[in-house]
Amino acid sequence: MAERGCYLLWLRHDGAGLLPFMEVIIQPTYQQLVAIAAEIIRDALLKKPNLVLGLATGSTPIGLYETLVRMHKENGLDFSDVTTFNLDEYIGIPSAHPCSYHTFMTTHFFNAVNIPVANRHIPQSTAENHEAFCEGYEAAIASAGGIDIQVLGIGKEGHIGFNEPSSSLGSRTRIKTLTQSTLEANAQHFGGTVDAVPKMAITMGVGTIMEAKRCLLLANGESKALAIARAVEGPITAEVPASVLQMHPQTVVLIDEAAASQLKRVDYYKQVYANKQKLLRI
Ligand code: F6R
Repeated sequence: MAERGCYLLWLRHDGAGLLPFMEVIIQPTYQQLVAIAAEIIRDALLKKPNLVLGLATGSTPIGLYETLVRMHKENGLDFSDVTTFNLDEYIGIPSAHPCSYHTFMTTHFFNAVNIPVANRHIPQSTAENHEAFCEGYEAAIASAGGIDIQVLGIGKEGHIGFNEPSSSLGSRTRIKTLTQSTLEANAQHFGGTVDAVPKMAITMGVGTIMEAKRCLLLANGESKALAIARAVEGPITAEVPASVLQMHPQTVVLIDEAAASQLKRVDYYKQVYANKQKLLRI
């Protein structure tokens, strides 16, 4: 009985559990994994209407935003008291640039839900005093009460935010130079031209991300399989910044079969998740 109580505490997904864990959930399709991510955010929002969300851009979370928008439009999920902080933004292009993360967020999420403009925060690529801006961004997160749920994608070399390999695991919001791998991966959004991708970005630090109460790391496709294997089963190292999430109190790694294809313990993660579903039905 004591053991069941312990499990149920772990299963609650409400940020109140006492047991630190990294949970790996493998789903057959991308749509299924973003559906679970959206449900976790919806449940948290229903419990805490003034939820503080940390948000990511890039291809991976697009389906998550589509699902949350549907929940808003069809089921009245209310974002009117939500505050958001985006992970990162390029330096050297204006906020209104079609490839900026400001434009991405407006297009994929902000235009379609009711988060007040004053509650949305995205690093500002045109800030003249970057250092003061970065300090202010950290202070704004703290004064909002910290991030309740941080949505993360992962780079092919294991970055989270734009914390490239070799980033300090204690780093805070600051400017980073992007690696060649990131420039090449992101060229698709800049007409396929690597030279057109800004070379630097402002990003929340690894330490900033680690202070989020919960993290949801999403990945799909074979191109992320090695990064996921290194992040989940490799040593904790600045060479793979996402690996530090093994030390985070509550991280859910939500991946499809292709992104899971280089993990050693796929069967075990599936067994753990199946047992959890069984326990939830007891
Ligand atoms: C974007 C971000 C990056 C991306 C990562 C994966 O805000 O923080 O870490 O999550 O580069 O990008 P996609 O999803 O485009 O593969």
